[in-house]
Amino acid sequence: MATQPNAGRVGAQRRIETSADAQPAGRVGAQRRIETSTDLDTGSTPSAPTRSAEAGSTPSAPTRSAEAGSTPSSPTRSAEPVPARSAAGGVSRRGLLGLLGAGAAGAAVGAASATGITMAATSAMAGTGSGGGAASAYPFFGAHQAGIVTPAQDRLHFAAFDVASTLDRTGLIELLTEWTDAAARLTQGLEVEEGGAVGGSDYAPPADTGEALGLPASGLTITFGFGPGLFTDASGADRFGLAARRPAALESLPRFQGDALQPERSGGDLCIQACADDPQVAVHAIRNLSRIAFGRATLRWSQLGFGRTSSTSTAQATPRNLFGFKDGTANLKAEDGSALDDHVWVQSADGPAWLAGGSFLVARRIRMIIENWDRVQLGEQEQLVGRSKGEGAPLSGGTEFTEPDFEATGATGTPLIDTKAHVRLAHHSSNGGARMLRRGYNFVDGNDELGRLDAGLFFLSYQRSPEQFIAVQRSLAADGLNEYLKHVGSAIFAVPAGVREGEYVGQALFA
Ligand code: HEM
Repeated sequence: MATQPNAGRVGAQRRIETSADAQPAGRVGAQRRIETSTDLDTGSTPSAPTRSAEAGSTPSAPTRSAEAGSTPSSPTRSAEPVPARSAAGGVSRRGLLGLLGAGAAGAAVGAASATGITMAATSAMAGTGSGGGAASAYPFFGAHQAGIVTPAQDRLHFAAFDVASTLDRTGLIELLTEWTDAAARLTQGLEVEEGGAVGGSDYAPPADTGEALGLPASGLTITFGFGPGLFTDASGADRFGLAARRPAALESLPRFQGDALQPERSGGDLCIQACADDPQVAVHAIRNLSRIAFGRATLRWSQLGFGRTSSTSTAQATPRNLFGFKDGTANLKAEDGSALDDHVWVQSADGPAWLAGGSFLVARRIRMIIENWDRVQLGEQEQLVGRSKGEGAPLSGGTEFTEPDFEATGATGTPLIDTKAHVRLAHHSSNGGARMLRRGYNFVDGNDELGRLDAGLFFLSYQRSPEQFIAVQRSLAADGLNEYLKHVGSAIFAVPAGVREGEYVGQALFA
C-alpha cells in the first residue's frame, strides 16, 4: 500500500479511498490513500456579424490598393447526484444537469450528430459561439480527445506546465489519473469532487475552488498534451523512462524568420487546453487542475482567449480575428471525414503506436501590431489577406466559401490574389498539400509600456505531423502580414488519443 508522496493534492478518485476525517494542515481535500500502486498502472450558432453592410464588397479591389455519450463519473465513485445546492442558494451545476429531461438531451444529440459529437445535455441551444448552448456538455470519453473537432467554443484558458524535478514515473501516472478523473467530472458540469466546494470539512480547504458553482457545463472541453520535455529533459535525462517512446517529430519547432520568442511564453512538459462558452468555467477548470498538480507540476505559462478565431464545424458562422477579418473559412472541419484522418489524426502506421488516434498541437502566441494595422487602407488590408474584409470572399471572386483562384488576373495582368497574400501562401496548394485544423483565439492582455495593446492571435493548430505546420509557417516567411505580426510564444505537444472509461489520459504511453 502506497501513500501519496505529495501534500496538497486534490481530485484523485479512482481506486483511492477517502476518509471523512479532518485534514492535517497544508493538505487539500479529503484525506486519501491509494490502495495499491499496481492499480495505478492499469491504470448555437453564434450571432452573425453585426456589420452586415460589409457583405457586399467586391472581390477584387485593384483600385483600392493603396466522442460519445459516456457517463462522467469514474467507476468507483457514486453516481448519485449531490444535493442541488449552490453557494448562492440556487441550483448546483450538477443539480441543473439532473433537472434536464431526457427529451432535452435527445434533442441535443440530434442537433450535434452532424459533427459526430454527442451532447449529454442541453437546455439552451441558441446564443453561444460553439453552437451547443450554455448548458451543453460534451462527452469526455471517446476515440479522440474532445476539444479538437468539437465546435470551437467562445472562450479559452490554455496552460503549459513544467513537471517537478522530484516527480517520478509513478507520480506522473498518479497526476494523469487525477487529472483524468477531475476532467471527466468538470466537463459534465460537476465539481472536482462531490460536495467539493462547500460540502466538506469546515477544517479543511475545499476540494473544489467553487467559482463554477451554479454554472452549467458551458460546453467545457479539456484536452491534454505531452511536450518534448516529458520524454527527455533539457539535459537529456530520461526522467520517466519514456525517451524511447518519444514520437520522432515531437521536438521544439525550428526557428522561423521573424521569431521573437520569449522562453517564459514557450515550451512546457504538459499542456491543458480548456475551452468553454463561459470564461469562468474555463478558468475554473485550469485553476483546479493546476491545484491538483501542486507539488508535481507548476504552471510555466498560460493564456486566456476571449473570442474564437476559427470554425471547426460547418454549422458555425465564421468569427473574426483582431484584424477584423473572418478567420476559419477554409479550416478543416468536423464534417470533413477522411480529411481528418489524412491531416489531423495520427494513424497507426505513423508511429508510435501509443499516439494513434491522437494529434500534434502547435501553439503560437502571435502579437498583432494593431496600432499600425489600423492605419492601413482597407484595400491594402484585403490585398495582404487575399480576401475581402466584409464577406471574407477570395479576391479572385465569389462568396465566402468559393475556392480561391490563384491564377486569376485583373485588367493589368497582375494576380487578383497577391503573390504575398496570406491565403495564397497558407493554402495547401503552396505547401505540398499540407493542411491543418486551426483552433485559435483572440487575446488582449492589457497594454505595453508604449501604450499599445498587448493583443493578438493565440494560434492553435492540430495536425497529424508537425511538418504540416512547419511547411506552412516557412511559406509564410513571405507573408505581407508579417509587418504587423510578431510571434512571441511557441510550443508543441503530442496530444494522445481519447480516453476510455476506467483509463487515464495517455495510458497507452505507459503500457
Ligand atoms: C495573427 C496571425 C494570423 C492571422 C491574422 C491570420 C488570418 C487568416 C485569415 C483572415 C485567413 C482567411 C480565412 C480562412 O480561411 O480562415 C487565414 C487563412 C489561413 N491561415 Fe492564417 N492567420 C494568421 C496566422 C497563421 C499561421 C501562423 C498559420 C499557419 C502556420 C496560418 C494558416 C492559415 C491557413 C492554412 C489558412 C487557410 C488558407 C486557405 O486554405 O485558404 N495562419 N488566416
